Amino acid sequence: MKKCFPLSKVYSLLEPGPLLLLTTAHCDASDVMPMTWYSLLGFEPPLVACVVSAGNHSQKLLRASKTCVLNIPTVELAKQVVGCGNCSGAGIDKFARFGLSRSAAEQVAAPLLDDCYASLECRVVDTRLVRRYEQFVLEVVAAWVDPKVKDPRTLHHRGYGKFMVAGESIKLRSGMR
Ligand SMILES: Cc1cc2nc3c(=O)[nH]c(=O)nc-3n(C[C@H](O)[C@H](O)[C@H](O)COP(=O)(O)O)c2cc1C
Repeated sequence: MKKCFPLSKVYSLLEPGPLLLLTTAHCDASDVMPMTWYSLLGFEPPLVACVVSAGNHSQKLLRASKTCVLNIPTVELAKQVVGCGNCSGAGIDKFARFGLSRSAAEQVAAPLLDDCYASLECRVVDTRLVRRYEQFVLEVVAAWVDPKVKDPRTLHHRGYGKFMVAGESIKLRSGMR
């Protein structure tokens, strides 16, 4: 039997795909923050709508540069992920504090995180919902994936510091390309 569930916790049932580490950079400043409130809007080019709150330093850099990178970490980076979510890059260099090594992206100023198995370079293509929902629409303009990682053990947020770790994959017949 299901029981009434508090509306304030509904998000924890709906948290979507893998937790991302959003990297941003503008002029001499750069930042990294975990992000789970996002949703796919289009196949090709890939479009992603994501919420980056105004209280976060990352939003300032995202607004200024209109570009970012969505990095996909696996469970090995869990401690660094939580650390990056509990402090602001306004006052500290999170890359140095959490030992996150980075490389230059091809098309955007924000860095690719070397220890993430995939990194997506993005441009902001729509800001109409920023004022209302703090939501930016991103177009992925270049994607990098480590081909050696077959079943990435990605992190999926279940709320309040609890994460599901992706494990076994199953394959069913599908008509999708
Ligand atoms: C698991 C997790 C998921 C998060 N998801 C988001 C998100 O989708 N959007 C957002 O604006 N902040 C999100 N946050 C909060 C930011 O990561 C956090 O406020 C961070 O310290 C911001 O850093 P900054 O000020 O350096 O940008 C999340 C935090 C955690 C721990």
